[in-house]
Amino acid sequence: MLIAPSILSCDYGKMASELEKIEKCGADLVHVDVMDGHFVPNITLGAPVVKCIRKYSNLPFDVHLMITDPIDYVEDFINAGADSITIHVECNSDIEKTLSLIREKGCKAAVSVKPKTPAEEIFKYLDMVSMVLVMTVEPGFGGQSFMADMMPKVEKIKAEIDRRGLDVSIQVDGGIGEKTIAEAARSGADIFVSGNALFKAQDMEKQISLFKQTASANYPGK
Ligand code: DX5
Ligand code: ZN
Repeated sequence: MLIAPSILSCDYGKMASELEKIEKCGADLVHVDVMDGHFVPNITLGAPVVKCIRKYSNLPFDVHLMITDPIDYVEDFINAGADSITIHVECNSDIEKTLSLIREKGCKAAVSVKPKTPAEEIFKYLDMVSMVLVMTVEPGFGGQSFMADMMPKVEKIKAEIDRRGLDVSIQVDGGIGEKTIAEAARSGADIFVSGNALFKAQDMEKQISLFKQTASANYPGK
């Protein structure tokens, strides 16, 4: 069970201390939301910023590319210090080529589905990825409500991963909080992105440990 705070909800002006806080509070990954104002209606940050902030954390950087043409930028993000890169199956780039390029450069590759995209769309890429990201909100903004109707999709992907005996994690992103993390874990998710719930918490360390306990207690077979 891994917790990945999304820096989309942090204070960008205090990035160094926010990253130190994330690490000190027991998070497992740093989730970096990259938006281009084209694939989604919001703009965040690019590879030069990732390069600058990378030195403030020892945690793996989990870069979520919500951009139209990821193939043109994955090398920049890898050189900037990304440890894993997630691309959207709905993007314009050739998915297989982009995933291969990410892997050739020694980075973990992942593929994501937006809420309206069926689970089956990513089945043919399952052999090429270490993680599938199921969006539980429409990508673009933090602080939205969790879409519980995405849980059958998580279950379907989990069943296919198990059927094929693959070692692929399922990440959920959007609206993760105390109640929804239990639902997502029950459906088979094992990596949880959280923005608002963690950065608004009185005590981030306590919140992360509660998230981990709740997720573990609800994961199938537990
Ligand atoms: C949405 C982003 C998410 C978002 C999650 O497009 O991919 O990572 O920041 O934020 P919360 O947890 O606030 O929904
Ligand atoms: Zn994200």
